Amino acid sequence: MLKGEITIPADKSISHRSLIFSALCNSRIKIKNLSMGADCISTLKIFEKLGVKYKFLSKYDLISDSSEGLNLNSDFIFDCGNSGTTTRLLTGLFSGLDINCTLIGDKSLSKRPMKRVIEPLEQMGANIESNENKLPLIIKGTNLNSITYFSPIPSAQVKSAILLAGLNAQGKTRVYEKTLSRNHSEIMLEYLGANINYGKDENGYFAEIEKSNINPKDIEITGDISSAAFFMVAGAIVEGSDILIKNVGINPTRSGIIDVFKQSGIDFEIINKRIITNEPTADIKVKYTENIRPFKIEGEIIPRLIDEIPVLALLATQAQGTSIIKDAHDLRHKESDRIKTIYETFKMLNVNIEETHDGLIIEGKKDFNQNITLETHLDHRLAMTYYVLSLINKAKTDIKGFECVNTSFPEFLEFAQKLK
Ligand code: S3P
Repeated sequence: MLKGEITIPADKSISHRSLIFSALCNSRIKIKNLSMGADCISTLKIFEKLGVKYKFLSKYDLISDSSEGLNLNSDFIFDCGNSGTTTRLLTGLFSGLDINCTLIGDKSLSKRPMKRVIEPLEQMGANIESNENKLPLIIKGTNLNSITYFSPIPSAQVKSAILLAGLNAQGKTRVYEKTLSRNHSEIMLEYLGANINYGKDENGYFAEIEKSNINPKDIEITGDISSAAFFMVAGAIVEGSDILIKNVGINPTRSGIIDVFKQSGIDFEIINKRIITNEPTADIKVKYTENIRPFKIEGEIIPRLIDEIPVLALLATQAQGTSIIKDAHDLRHKESDRIKTIYETFKMLNVNIEETHDGLIIEGKKDFNQNITLETHLDHRLAMTYYVLSLINKAKTDIKGFECVNTSFPEFLEFAQKLK
């Protein structure tokens, strides 16, 4: 039974962007509530190598000082760790700067596809060598021209990489998406006074940027709904639970899980709505729900909950009926092939589950009572999903490689203990 309240740490996506844009403002700014996840620290360390100075005022608050500008004069090797966001966004930025650098990463990141950013950036004139479109990426920064790019996948990393390249390109760079991916880059660039324009026209959702100065303005980062998701689902499925999750970012491009909770009839409430640095934020109350309805997710909702699918798959095992996840092929390119890893785990647990090329079909109402050892495959979202699973498994759950939660949510266990 989970009881009590927690305040969710900072959003990982917004934290990366705050580090990148503050490094470009040639000034000192305060960043309040930065994610301490290893992914964001990878981004911070890269800018530190480039001469940005960081002074921590407390655990999550710091001053970023880029007043001396970026020092680009050496051949850099940047370790992006496990972070796809660091790699893809910075590939966009570095392509248009006067820099020579190599981006490397861990075993999981080194398997992930980079063609999605290399292709549009090459169209802008970028000079990137890769290992068959995977890491390491060797970037020789150059003058870029602008493009209009129709993104074949709804990916905020692709969109943001192009916008960051567009910040240093001649002319107006425009990215179109059929389905809107998270728009934190657009929101923060607008907040910092960049020449950005975004919206929807007859071709789809667009974001357009041209050369800009980034104004030095303090940034506060809202809480991460993708971290809150584990506790939201735990609250709904662990018998007797009644919890309050505070400071959750509910930007509509990220809040698909709230729509699923409505579909599934979960007993929850969104309170205390407010805005933090132009990002909608709220507190969420969740109670154990006995009769959970199955859900179907496909199409435009998928990018709005892409990182929550592992834990939503667990929710599906507790619903009365069959839940369907479709149009989520990109899950195969995350920190692990999440369609395969979730399928294999639930199959081992005797869940009636089917793997499709772009999703999963999961039959619910499953009691777990089985000693099991689960492998995280360096995938933090699997690790946290397995922890929530352990709360409803009546037998013993061993999670191998649990420490990868540090990628996005190093405080996870501490928070889970708080709710006990
Ligand atoms: C992110 C975008 C998403 C998401 C990732 C963070 C970002 O990836 O899965 O965790 O910060 O832009 P894609 O752009 O590959 O969908």
